[in-house]
Amino acid sequence: MNITVFGTGYVGLVAGACLAEVGHQVTCMDINPERIQQLERGENPIFEPGLSAILQQNRAAGRLRFTTHTAEAVASGDILFIAVGTPPDEDGTADLRYVLNVARSIGEHMQGYKLIVDKSTVPVGTAEKVTATVTEALRLRGVEHPFDVCSNPEFMKEGAAIEDFTRGARIIVGTENEQVKSLMRECYAPYNRNHDKLMFMSVRAAELTKYAANAMLATKISFMNEIACLAERLEVDIEDVRRGIGSDPRIGYHFIYPGCGYGGSCFPKDVKALEQTARQLGYEPALLGAVEAVNTRQKQTLFTKLSEQLGDLHGKTIAVWGLAFKPDTDDMREAPSRTLMEALWQAGARVQAFDPEAMSECRRLYGERDDLMLAGDRIQAVKGADALVICTEWKMFRSVDFNWLAGQLTDKLVVDGRNLYRPEALSNAGLRYVGVGRSNLA
Ligand code: UGA
Repeated sequence: MNITVFGTGYVGLVAGACLAEVGHQVTCMDINPERIQQLERGENPIFEPGLSAILQQNRAAGRLRFTTHTAEAVASGDILFIAVGTPPDEDGTADLRYVLNVARSIGEHMQGYKLIVDKSTVPVGTAEKVTATVTEALRLRGVEHPFDVCSNPEFMKEGAAIEDFTRGARIIVGTENEQVKSLMRECYAPYNRNHDKLMFMSVRAAELTKYAANAMLATKISFMNEIACLAERLEVDIEDVRRGIGSDPRIGYHFIYPGCGYGGSCFPKDVKALEQTARQLGYEPALLGAVEAVNTRQKQTLFTKLSEQLGDLHGKTIAVWGLAFKPDTDDMREAPSRTLMEALWQAGARVQAFDPEAMSECRRLYGERDDLMLAGDRIQAVKGADALVICTEWKMFRSVDFNWLAGQLTDKLVVDGRNLYRPEALSNAGLRYVGVGRSNLA
């Protein structure tokens, strides 16, 4: 099939590459010329395991092209995916400007039938706005062309995006139109071989499903972080509780890891956007705001724990392992590491930071500053530091020689924001250990 994907951000690029990989002819369009030039040169602008190889192979095979030309992009696809960003407005409402700009360009350039697919995370009712925008653009041209709009939300996680796209639990399509169903079935057929993962539902149900999924996962995390706060005060190890409740299949082990709060481009944004949707409907949501409030507080927990242990942090040097909001990405959007570092700087402390992938992102965000040393590796980060904080659970941080570490840290303190270590292993080496939901165990 001929497919065009508008937007070469995370979702658009992974979707475009994976659809080309199974034999579709894919054009990826972006209004950013630098990004397109970069992709045309064979460079991958985002860090995602496995993506570079797929981009390279499919570009070489002629199945994947990149363009900044809207007319060409619209003409070359029978199915047009909209995968542009929906950043939050000041009040958290999803900003649909980019989505509707694409819809308008489609209406301005289409010459025959098009199936328009909303892949961006968009509030309920957006497909109707896309339809109205395309219709208006066609009216201004004085032409009539048939088109359909359906919703096909994406559930990929950064760091596992290829796996999630190709082997996801479900493919949700919001449409009640039989022709659209069969086109979407054909588009996803290569990824839908062993059992039928396609779920058809109303457009609005598909749009709401996306937000509900992210809000549910964020709720699980905030719930667990709240129980972790109780566990700390009750002298209980939250890790025992996590295993205890996770073993109940009705709860499950996924997304109940306590930590220093969720970050990234999705959970924080989507929980706020859903809250705003509820308010716009005259319904005051009780749970969504609480999920967000618990997370905001949790992101401050690393700084609080450091202060509790060390008192005034002015003049202290804190090593930070992990800057990305989670492993296997270089993304620092809403990362707990940022809340920590900004609070440390405010308190007059210095930071020595290391992350296996996010160093250049950190440099881009904070530039050169006297109170930030970007370390070349994890060893350099702890040299001469008073304490160490773990913000991201990268695999490389899992095994540590704690005797060596104890020799490095002046205050012999490790704050483990991801509960990576066994508290006894650190106390045996003479280190003070503070985890999340288990700090009393040191
Ligand atoms: C999330 C969803 O998991 C995807 O299904 C969805 O498609 C995506 O948002 C999106 O809407 O685009 P992502 O933000 O990439 O994916 O990352 P997650 O792996 O879900 O992690 C989000 C945050 O939750 C991270 O900061 C992570 O550290 C935190 N987390 C996750 C916990 O604190 N505890 C857990 O048990 C799990």
